Amino acid sequence: MFPPVFGFVILFSITITFGSPVVTENNTNVVSLNIQNANNGQAIPPTMHGVILETNINRGDDGGLYAELIYNRAFQENGRSLDGWLRFGEGSITLSNNQSLSSALPVQMKFTLNETSTTPSGFKNGGYYGISIQPQNYTASFYYRPSTSAYIEGGKLTIGLSNLDGSNIYGAATIDVYNAPVSVWSNFSATISVFDAAQSTQNVFFVAFPPNSRGDFEFNLISCFPATFKNRTNGVRIDIAQAFADLKPGFVRLPGGNDLEGPTIPERFIWNNTIGPLQNRPGRRGTWVGYNTEGLGIIELLTFVEDIGATPVLAVYAGYSLDRKAVPQDQLQPYIDEVIDEIDFITAPADASRMGALRKHLGRSEPFDIKYVEIGNEDFVATSTYSYRWPAFHNALSQRYPNITFIATTTSSIPSPPAVDDHDYQPPQFFINNFRRYENIPRPKPKVLVGEFSTINARDSNSLPYPTLAGAVAESIYRIGFERNSDVIIGGCYAPVLQNVKATQWTPNLIPFNANLVVKSTSYLAQQMFGANLGNIILNSTATNSIMTHESVQKGGEGDGKLGNLYFTASKRTDSNTLIVKLVSVDRNDTLVNVQIQDSLASSEGVMYILAGGPGVDPSTLSNTIYNPNAVSIITKLIWATGGKFSITVPPWSVVVVNLPL
Ligand SMILES: *[C@@H]1O[C@H](CO)[C@@H](O)[C@H](O)[C@H]1NC(C)=O
Ligand SMILES: *[C@@H]1O[C@H](CO)[C@@H](O)[C@H](O)[C@H]1NC(C)=O
Ligand SMILES: *[C@@H]1O[C@H](CO)[C@@H](O)[C@H](O)[C@H]1NC(C)=O
Ligand SMILES: *[C@@H]1O[C@H](CO)[C@@H](O)[C@H](O)[C@H]1NC(C)=O
Ligand SMILES: *[C@@H]1O[C@H](CO)[C@@H](O)[C@H](O)[C@H]1NC(C)=O
Ligand SMILES: *[C@@H]1O[C@H](CO)[C@@H](O)[C@H](O)[C@H]1NC(C)=O
Ligand SMILES: *[C@@H]1O[C@H](CO)[C@@H](O)[C@H](O)[C@H]1NC(C)=O
Ligand SMILES: *[C@@H]1O[C@H](CO)[C@@H](O)[C@H](O)[C@H]1NC(C)=O
Ligand SMILES: *[C@@H]1O[C@H](CO)[C@@H](O)[C@H](O)[C@H]1NC(C)=O
Ligand SMILES: *[C@@H]1O[C@H](CO)[C@@H](O)[C@H](O)[C@H]1NC(C)=O
Repeated sequence: MFPPVFGFVILFSITITFGSPVVTENNTNVVSLNIQNANNGQAIPPTMHGVILETNINRGDDGGLYAELIYNRAFQENGRSLDGWLRFGEGSITLSNNQSLSSALPVQMKFTLNETSTTPSGFKNGGYYGISIQPQNYTASFYYRPSTSAYIEGGKLTIGLSNLDGSNIYGAATIDVYNAPVSVWSNFSATISVFDAAQSTQNVFFVAFPPNSRGDFEFNLISCFPATFKNRTNGVRIDIAQAFADLKPGFVRLPGGNDLEGPTIPERFIWNNTIGPLQNRPGRRGTWVGYNTEGLGIIELLTFVEDIGATPVLAVYAGYSLDRKAVPQDQLQPYIDEVIDEIDFITAPADASRMGALRKHLGRSEPFDIKYVEIGNEDFVATSTYSYRWPAFHNALSQRYPNITFIATTTSSIPSPPAVDDHDYQPPQFFINNFRRYENIPRPKPKVLVGEFSTINARDSNSLPYPTLAGAVAESIYRIGFERNSDVIIGGCYAPVLQNVKATQWTPNLIPFNANLVVKSTSYLAQQMFGANLGNIILNSTATNSIMTHESVQKGGEGDGKLGNLYFTASKRTDSNTLIVKLVSVDRNDTLVNVQIQDSLASSEGVMYILAGGPGVDPSTLSNTIYNPNAVSIITKLIWATGGKFSITVPPWSVVVVNLPL
C-alpha cells in the first residue's frame, strides 16, 4: 500500500511563486502516479531533444567549437587587417596583396627585416581571447614566400607557444625553409610538443627568425591546432565537442539561424565556398561578429554531427537576407539550383553524380544521411516573399528528394507545409503556461520542430546573463509537452548553444566557455537529463491526489501530464525494457510521488537524477557561470521498486528523471 498522506495536499494550484522557497515545516504534497506498462504506444522519435549549431554567434565556431587557435589566420578580420598580430624584436609587419596565395585569400602578411637583425625577431598571435596550452601535440602550419633578397641565418625558423613576452616557452619546433623557392608560395607544417600546462591562457603562438636574417618574407594561413575531437584534421575543440556529445542530441540544426541568411544576399551561406582546401575558402562577413573563416565548412560540420551520433537538420538558404532584401520571384532559380547542388553534394552516391564525385574527391565517399531540410530561417518576418519562396524551393526539392521531410519556418502566407519550425524566447511563465500548447495544434501535419527556445529573462525584459534554474525547470515543462505530443513534435532545442564569454552578442546560452573552460549551464544539465534518458514509446500515465481517482482524470485535464505544480511524462525503452519517468515541479514544497506501474511486478534497482537548488535558494537567480561553473549539478540517487511500486520525493523547483529496469 502507499504510505499515508502527510502534510498539506495541493489542489489545482497553478500559482508560481518566486523567491525564498524555503521549506521550514514538513509541508509535503502527495501524489499518486499510475503508469500503464505496455510495449506499444505513441512512438517518440530519436530526434526529440536536439541542439542548434548556429555558426558565428558569440564566436561559437571560429573562436569556439572550431579548434583553430590562431585568430585572423588569413588577415580577413575587420575588412582585411593585421588585427591580433604583433611583431617582436626587429622588423615590421604589413599587409600585402601582391600575388596572393589564392583568389579566396587575397591579402597576406609581409614581415620585413630591412636591416640585418641582431636579435630573435618575428611575430606572434594571442589567439581568440587567449590560448590554452596543455601537455599534448599541436599541429602548426603556414604558407610562406621569401623575396629574392631574403636571407635566414641557418635557414631555419622557430615556431612555438609561449607566454606573452616569450620568457616562458612551453613548446617549440624548427622549420627548415632553406630550400623554399623564392617568389613562390610553399606550405610548411610542424608538430609542437608541450609537456607542461600553462597556468594562464594569456599566451601566444610565435614565429621567430634567428639573428643575422634579412629581407621580405610573406605568410598566409598561419594555423595551429591542438588535438581535436576524434582526431579529425581541421577538427573541433575536444571539450566543447564533448559537451555537445554528452547531451546525446537527437538532431543538430545547422549552419543557422541568422548566419545562414547572412547580412546581405551575397554574404549568405554559400555551401561550396566552405569546402576543399582552406586556401580556397574565402569566408564571409559574420552575421553577428567578426569574420567567418568557414574553416568549419559543411563537410566538417556534418562529420561532427555524425561523430556525436545525431541526425542533421540541414538549413538551406531560401532567398532572404538580414538587410530585409528578398530575391525576386523571377530570379530565384539559381538559388534553387545552388541548394540542389548542395543537397546532391551531401547525399548523392559518389559514383552516380557530379556532386557526389566532388565529395569523394574531397575525401568523403560515403553520402551523409539527411532526413530533414529546413527551407530558410524565421521567415515569419518575411511572409510577403516567403509566399513565393517556399513553394518555389519546396516544389523543386520535394520532387527531387522524396525521402526528405521539408520544414517551413512559418505557416503564415503558405499552404500547410509538411513541418514547421517554431521559435520561442520567453520568460519562464510562458513555457509553464504553454505546457499544453502542442495538444491543441492541427494533426497530422504540419509536424513541428521547436528549432529554438529558451528562457531569456526572469520577470522583466532584461536578458539573463546565464540560464537559471527557474529557466531550466520551465524549459523542462515545455520538453515534457514535446514528448507527450511526439506524434507531431519532431524535436526541440534550446538556443543559442555556444557562447565565447569574451565575444558575446546574445545571452543566455546553453554552453558558455572561454579558452580553457566549458560551463554546463542549468539549462544544459536539464536538457542532458532529457536527452540521455529518452524512451522510444510513451506510456499512459495519470496522477491523482487524495480527492481524485485515476478514473476521473480527463484527457487534457488535471492529472493528465500535470497535477497542480507537478508536470510529468512516462516512457519506455522497449529494447532495454526500461521505464523512464520525467517529473518537473514548480512547487515551493516537496512533492511525495507514489508510483504504481500497472501490469508490472518489477522489483529492481533504478536511478533517479535530480536537478534542484536546495533549501533557501531562489531558483530565479541560481546559475552556473564562468566564475562559478558548478553552483548546481545533477545529483544521482538509487531507488528501489518493489512489486511495481516505488516512492520518490520531488524537491521544490526541480527536474527529476527516473530510470528503472522493468
Ligand atoms: C509550503 O510550505 C510552507 C512552509 O514552508 C507552508 O507555509 C505552505 O503552506 C506550503 N504550501 C502549500 C501549498 O502546501
Ligand atoms: C515529511 O514527512 C514525510 C513522511 O513522514 C517524510 O518521509 C519526509 O522525509 C518528511 N520531510 C521532511 C522535509 O522532513
Ligand atoms: C492509452 O490510453 C488510451 C486512452 O485511454 C488508450 O486508447 C490506449 O490504448 C492506451 N495505450 C496504451 C499503450 O496503453
Ligand atoms: C627599417 O625599419 C625600421 C622599422 O622596423 C625603421 O625604423 C627604419 O627606418 C627602417 N630603415 C630603413 C633603412 O628603411
Ligand atoms: C607528440 O609527437 C611526438 C613526436 O611527433 C610523438 O613522439 C608523441 O607520441 C606525440 N605525443 C602525443 C601525446 O601524441
Ligand atoms: C610581387 O611578388 C612577386 C613574386 O614574389 C615579386 O617578384 C614582385 O617583385 C612583387 N612585386 C612587388 C611590387 O613587390
Ligand atoms: C600543403 O598544402 C597541401 C594543399 O593544401 C596539402 O595537401 C599538404 O598536405 C600541405 N603540406 C604541408 C606540409 O602542410
Ligand atoms: C587521438 O590521437 C591521440 C594522440 O595521437 C591518441 O592518444 C588517441 O588515442 C587518439 N584518439 C582516437 C579517438 O583515435
Ligand atoms: C558554387 O556552385 C555554384 C552553383 O551551385 C556555381 O555557380 C559556383 O561557381 C560554385 N562556386 C565555386 C567556388 O565552385
Ligand atoms: C527513398 O527511400 C527508399 C526506401 O529506403 C529507397 O528505396 C529510395 O531509393 C529512396 N529514394 C531516394 C530518391 O533517395
